[in-house]
Amino acid sequence: MDFDRIEKIFEDKKNFRGFRAPGRVNLIGEHTDYHQGFVLPVSISKFFYFFLRKNNVNKFRVYSENFDELYEFDYLNITFNKEKPWVNYLQGVITEIVKLKGEIPCFDAYLFGEIPMGAGLSSSAAYEVAVAYGINTYFDLKIEKKEIAKLSQRAENNFVGAPCGIMDQFIATFGKEKTALLIDTLTLDYENIPFDINKRGLSLVVIDTKVKHSIAGEGYSTRRREGEEALKILRQHLNINSLRDLQDETFNFSQKILPSPLRERVAHVFNENKRVLAFANDLKNDQWQNLPKYMLDSHLSLKNLYEVTCEELDFLVEKALEYGAFASRMTGGGFGGSTVNLVPQEIIDRWIEKIKTSYEDKFGFKPEILVLETSDGVREI
Ligand code: GLA
Repeated sequence: MDFDRIEKIFEDKKNFRGFRAPGRVNLIGEHTDYHQGFVLPVSISKFFYFFLRKNNVNKFRVYSENFDELYEFDYLNITFNKEKPWVNYLQGVITEIVKLKGEIPCFDAYLFGEIPMGAGLSSSAAYEVAVAYGINTYFDLKIEKKEIAKLSQRAENNFVGAPCGIMDQFIATFGKEKTALLIDTLTLDYENIPFDINKRGLSLVVIDTKVKHSIAGEGYSTRRREGEEALKILRQHLNINSLRDLQDETFNFSQKILPSPLRERVAHVFNENKRVLAFANDLKNDQWQNLPKYMLDSHLSLKNLYEVTCEELDFLVEKALEYGAFASRMTGGGFGGSTVNLVPQEIIDRWIEKIKTSYEDKFGFKPEILVLETSDGVREI
């Protein structure tokens, strides 16, 4: 990133302060966060950058490096922008901050994202969290960190209109280098679990299928709706607040009374929550040999029970393991997007080549392969 760009756009770069928040890869715990379950993501060393400085012109002036566009607005025209979708995340965060703290002074802002968009690495959560944390710090609003994650999620739900859970905004806020974050999305308690894969001779590799199936947005909200439907039926018989509250006995009961596909959706959520806790526990106790099985079971459950994978994701997981990956599964919302892989460093170059070739032979286009490091959560730079 060329910091002098700020000077070119805003005449000088005096008094700007800069912030950055990371993207994420979820190791396990998929489609559990909006059922108040458990997730285990890591934050990655690809960031969204947000620079700001208060101005005295009574309007917000925002420049996006990625889109090479300057956009100006004031409090009277903070509305959903169809033509420039990139401004909505920022406007959504400002809206949520105003609800909490009242109007903040207008500012100039420079935005730059290096997290690939649409790859399932949570570029939008990183954007929201960088902006929320930056505004909070710059104007000393004293919003606590958990609220930063929560208001960023609300910006996405209420303003951008994507009904995501809390995982992505939470890990962008609280992530830590060489660490996986076990998050209880009900209580928002969390635990840092050492995840030093390089010491294990492994690399963290994300493979972007480069497909986004048209069903993606719709598929995600359908899954949320199905969960709510299942919960409604179960609550006629059981005293539970969410699918997360199911225990062995009540889960067995659910499998008897729910119609398909609600039965399968609930089975995924119930077992996936168990897998997250088992994975976290084995990670803590250095039982790495058990991790690949949890990840594969998670993938198969997302394929067969939750039905959010696709041909490209299934193919990549199968080939990743066939060519020698230690572990592999889809990560993120699914219907396209990416897989996460733990790959032995001694085979990585050859492994990447083989994956690329076989994927291109099969689908006629290349996947994008990223070898990633873990990183800390949001901070000032
Ligand atoms: C998307 C959402 C998250 C989570 C995952 C699936 O990334 O933003 O909240 O629901 O899908 O695990």
